[in-house]
Amino acid sequence: MVHADASNFVIGVTKDQAYEQVLMQAEGLFDGQRNWVCNLSNAASLLWHAYKSLPSPSNQVNWAGFYTLNPLSPSPQLILGPFQGKVACQTIAFSRGVCGVAAATQTTQLVRDVDAFPGHIACDGDSRSEIVVPIVVSQEGTGEKKLVAIIDIDCAVLDGFDEVDRVYLEKLGGLIGRSCDWWLWSSGDRLDC
Ligand code: SME
Repeated sequence: MVHADASNFVIGVTKDQAYEQVLMQAEGLFDGQRNWVCNLSNAASLLWHAYKSLPSPSNQVNWAGFYTLNPLSPSPQLILGPFQGKVACQTIAFSRGVCGVAAATQTTQLVRDVDAFPGHIACDGDSRSEIVVPIVVSQEGTGEKKLVAIIDIDCAVLDGFDEVDRVYLEKLGGLIGRSCDWWLWSSGDRLDC
């Protein structure tokens, strides 16, 4: 088995099975590796290949990746992280667009029609539906929940996502949150999780 095999999904796999494989492979890849760039990159690849192995609408996913908290910004802001798909917006202020709302509220946004979402940011005019899942970690000492990143998946058809996507992506977000060291490199602070 080589690393790339982790991204291979058998033909005819169900959505639950594909997500189970994503979670299992992610857990294996994160074992002994806590660098967030490395782990988010492999997670983006796993998600992309999982969607491409599934029937419509999942195989119509046209962007799968991450935005992370930008610790260099004076105001709360997301910055583009590892992803698969076309070039995307580099920074997004908290509360702006689907990603910014998910980040500011720390709640999953399942958007069946992006045109019906006030303030949706059209990085790619092909995107018709979207799901954004916050990744939060509890700050040591205070227990305060801190947003460190979001998972963002776009689909080129309406109604691309359902509750199955929400459940599994929230599980993946939890796994990623506790599997990485999140450095706030502007202040030297570190969030241990
Ligand atoms: N549509 C997102 C912006 C990011 S891209 O989809 C990659 C939003 O409204 O926040």
